[in-house]
Amino acid sequence: MNGEFKIINIPKISDPRGNLSVIEKDCIPFGIKRVYYLYDVPSDSYRGGHAHKEQLEFLIALSGSFEVILDNGKYKEKVMLNKPNKGLLIPTRMWRELENFSSGAVCLVLASDVYDEVDYIRDYDEFLESKR
Ligand code: TYD
Repeated sequence: MNGEFKIINIPKISDPRGNLSVIEKDCIPFGIKRVYYLYDVPSDSYRGGHAHKEQLEFLIALSGSFEVILDNGKYKEKVMLNKPNKGLLIPTRMWRELENFSSGAVCLVLASDVYDEVDYIRDYDEFLESKR
């Protein structure tokens, strides 16, 4: 998947006892190899600042809110995540920065691969070069 980002609705099972959302089957277009989460992020700090060569990631604001700036080398777009039943699918070779975390925000990340620094592009000029 090497294209545009997508907001994907995660099925929600509503109940007077509370909501339940589940990610399975074809909800996201990859098998999950890794799960990590960001929390206790100070409101004035930012995360991300890289692109991936192969790996796909699906981000969910499990609690609170934060913004994701997506940059494909030509255009930048800002997406706010603030619902546990909506996720952001980030394709390969998309620069992302996460900022404006609300207090108590939790960003869950489902990834298509294990952690491998070789898959990261952390230098913005190198990223732009790779898009040519
Ligand atoms: P970093 O990529 O800077 O996090 P983010 O993109 O969310 O801002 O990662 C922070 C540190 O954590 C860095 O030293 C690499 C390490 N790390 C792992 O060891 N395993 C992982 O799965 C991830 C995502 C990061």
